[in-house]
Amino acid sequence: MAMPRRKLKLAVTVMMVNLFIFLLVSRQGGQDKSGQSKIVVPSKPFWSRLAPPAAYWNRQQHMLDLRNNPLMTPPNGSGGALYWLNLTSAMEEEEEAGDSCQPNLRVTSEVKDYSLLPQHFHDFLLYMHCRSYKVAVEPPANFCQRPPFLLLAVKSLAPHFDRRQAIRQTWGRAGRMLNRTVATVFLLGRTVAKDHFPDLQEMLRFESRKHADLLQWDHRDSFFNLTVKEVLFLDWLHARCPGARFIFKGDDDVFVNTRRILDFLGGLEEQRSRDLFVGDVITNARPHRDKKVKYFIPESLYAGTYPPYAGGGGYLYSGNLAARLRNASRQVALYPIDDVYTGICLRKLGLAPEKHKGFRTFDIEEKMRSNPCAYHKLMLVHPRTPQQMMQIWAWLSNPELSCQ
Ligand SMILES: *[C@@H]1O[C@H](CO)[C@@H](O)[C@H](O)[C@H]1NC(C)=O
Ligand SMILES: *[C@@H]1O[C@H](CO)[C@@H](O)[C@H](O)[C@H]1NC(C)=O
Ligand SMILES: *[C@@H]1O[C@H](CO)[C@@H](O)[C@H](O)[C@H]1NC(C)=O
Ligand SMILES: *[C@@H]1O[C@H](CO)[C@@H](O)[C@H](O)[C@H]1NC(C)=O
Ligand SMILES: *[C@@H]1O[C@H](CO)[C@@H](O)[C@H](O)[C@H]1NC(C)=O
Repeated sequence: MAMPRRKLKLAVTVMMVNLFIFLLVSRQGGQDKSGQSKIVVPSKPFWSRLAPPAAYWNRQQHMLDLRNNPLMTPPNGSGGALYWLNLTSAMEEEEEAGDSCQPNLRVTSEVKDYSLLPQHFHDFLLYMHCRSYKVAVEPPANFCQRPPFLLLAVKSLAPHFDRRQAIRQTWGRAGRMLNRTVATVFLLGRTVAKDHFPDLQEMLRFESRKHADLLQWDHRDSFFNLTVKEVLFLDWLHARCPGARFIFKGDDDVFVNTRRILDFLGGLEEQRSRDLFVGDVITNARPHRDKKVKYFIPESLYAGTYPPYAGGGGYLYSGNLAARLRNASRQVALYPIDDVYTGICLRKLGLAPEKHKGFRTFDIEEKMRSNPCAYHKLMLVHPRTPQQMMQIWAWLSNPELSCQ
């Protein structure tokens, strides 16, 4: 007899709740004080009129979205057609500029506080439309003839010879590791005289002949051009190394526990490995509005929050996803911060990066840093010098090392 009574109780409770909601709703909209019915007419139209966003990046993205999604074409009449015409003509101008890679001088008037922005924003905005740069140095054509299981793509800068060499001798040692093929490629731009760099091009050519692992494009290597490096890398991957199963992309001042990563990848299920994108994920971030911060972004450039993204120190993703990211990136306007940009592209694909505790882009506790076992289970630690890389790799390679 206990069950029916409990059911009855439940039914009564549900009825009471329904009645309460009914009373609440009917009191709110339906009647005024005199008890007469009243139709509520919203004062603003339900669909707000399309207005181009004020922030420059958002506006560029808005145009790209319209171009790539025919369903978003606004209706004609009541200014819609005019709006559309305005946008399409702006888009055409944009495309002409894109072909030539000439500086787009219109940004000087289209970005509200252009003249007040620091120089690197001018450098970024003037060339934001350009994504094609020539290859200056690249690995031999047979680099990916046997597609690697894991491709380590390391963002580097011409003068960082010692970092690259330390990586080659440690975590980026190309060849077979744990019975998997591993290949390493260093991603470079040009260090230009304007930034007071000495001319190291001959030394790079020598290094490339010796190690055949440099991939250099013709763009100026700078913080705000890292996104250019990202899209150029995705293009190169598509053209030259489409068979790579997994890609690690990171900086040249990190230590990567490559064996741990191979272990992790070996244990993945099919579906998970298809959409894999793991790293040190940052959620609920928004642009820094303080001019003194390296990551400062003015409101005239970007409005809104950031999607979840993996810190650029290093993240791991599948080759399958890399191809989709490349497609998505063509529909996403370049953003000055490369890891945020990749987060935006992922969101475009309906995906989000996954956080993994093994990625320590903000380092580990100071007292643990000289303990070999602290590195045993980690995938990545940032930052580490070339000498520290050599030391940690030696610790981890010691067969007598025993950690639980
Ligand atoms: C919208 O465009 C269509 C075809 O281009 C045209 O037939 C129609 O009259 C236009 N409507 C308005 C309100 O301008
Ligand atoms: C189209 O652009 C002109 C200036 O280029 C502007 O005055 C006008 O308001 C725009 N029209 C719409 C509907 O956005
Ligand atoms: C190494 O890999 C090859 C092919 O990938 C496989 O046939 C072989 O069994 C593996 N050896 C070991 C010891 O796992
Ligand atoms: C990116 O590279 C291009 C080509 O070298 C250069 O013109 C532009 O100023 C660079 N952008 C930044 C932000 O350094
Ligand atoms: C990328 O886009 C092209 C052209 O739209 C399409 O054929 C291809 O299948 C896409 N690739 C992936 C991996 O989505």
